[in-house]
Amino acid sequence: MRIPVDLGRRSYDVVLGPGARHELAELIQTRLPRAREAAIITSAPLRAQPWFDLQSGLEQHVIEVPDGEDAKSLTTLERVSESLARLGLSRYDVVIGAGGGAITDLAGFAAAVYLRGVPVVHVATSLVGQVDAAIGGKTAVNLSAGKNLIGAFHQPAGVLCDSEVLATLSERDRLGGLGEVAKCWLLEDRRAASLSGTSLAELVKLCVQLKAGVVMMDETEAGRRALLNYGHTLGHALEKLALERARDEMRHGEAVAVGLAFAVRLAHAMGRVGSLEVVNHDQVLSALGLSGRLPAFASPDALIAAMGRDKKAHHDLTFVLAGAEGFDVVHHVSETLVRGVIERFRSEA
Ligand SMILES: NC(=O)c1ccc[n+]([C@@H]2O[C@H](COP(=O)([O-])OP(=O)(O)OC[C@H]3O[C@@H](n4cnc5c(N)ncnc54)[C@H](O)[C@@H]3O)[C@@H](O)[C@H]2O)c1
Repeated sequence: MRIPVDLGRRSYDVVLGPGARHELAELIQTRLPRAREAAIITSAPLRAQPWFDLQSGLEQHVIEVPDGEDAKSLTTLERVSESLARLGLSRYDVVIGAGGGAITDLAGFAAAVYLRGVPVVHVATSLVGQVDAAIGGKTAVNLSAGKNLIGAFHQPAGVLCDSEVLATLSERDRLGGLGEVAKCWLLEDRRAASLSGTSLAELVKLCVQLKAGVVMMDETEAGRRALLNYGHTLGHALEKLALERARDEMRHGEAVAVGLAFAVRLAHAMGRVGSLEVVNHDQVLSALGLSGRLPAFASPDALIAAMGRDKKAHHDLTFVLAGAEGFDVVHHVSETLVRGVIERFRSEA
């Protein structure tokens, strides 16, 4: 199955399904006929997986980077860029990001800036990567001041989302991905009841279609694309607080799940949705095995401070909220109201 991301000269397909990774050579040959060399960026644990049998059809080199979020640093970017230069990668050649969202974010950014831009293809191996991170051309690394503070828009020449590789995901990484799936399901206004008859492959397809559609409307997040940040205002704040406690305290998607539960409560408190929508959100989260409860370590003061500092909040409390006419980005939400909803939400836990 192919889902097109139609962006004029920057158009590409997202290829989904079992064995999609084996399309790599054909994709490169079709989209990048002048490419001679491929630099595959991945981590050692991923390279050791049984499905790591990528064939680009070119002379290929593997560049190993730290696993997970540690890949997204300026130090790693510099190291990768030096390796690309040593390999003599030209602007006709291709960088391949093979990994979860952290690696495709790094590989995409390296491809965006090396020689002022070389082609990149993503082989998205995590659920977050397949439903979200590898699609849409947002690339970034982190600074100590915060996540994704340095980056660029750089669309890939293609994205391969192979369902076979998801079999080796840890339970936590699978659940983390389901947080983003819950977001897509709710943004599509689907009910909890219809989730039980929907396979993971169908859920991935729904998310990719949603993301591709939004990116086509708003490539650089000037408007509608911001709706994909549903659940992310509180989610990012929670992720930040969790990270200050321990590296592995919370996955992005777990924090987003809590953010979704909070956002619908806030929308309810503002009279934008009825209580049935709150129940639907909770049921969607629990049907996907997600908790959606605020952890005890997240105090209202710390959350509010962290939400105000989120780079997407534009220095005020901004949320994507459900309403009678669909979803809106709502700016300048009253701090008193937010605090009250957090306190009530906390007492539910
Ligand atoms: N660019 C975007 O639009 C966008 C969107 C959402 C998230 N992101 C970014 O994505 C990152 C999160 O992505 P993630 O959840 O994939 O995390 P990740 O890339 O850190 O991967 C999590 C873990 O899963 C492992 N893993 C990946 N695929 C695997 C597989 N098939 N089998 C076994 N293990 C596997 C990785 O090695 C890693 O240890 C964050 O940095 C976030 O900022 C970017």
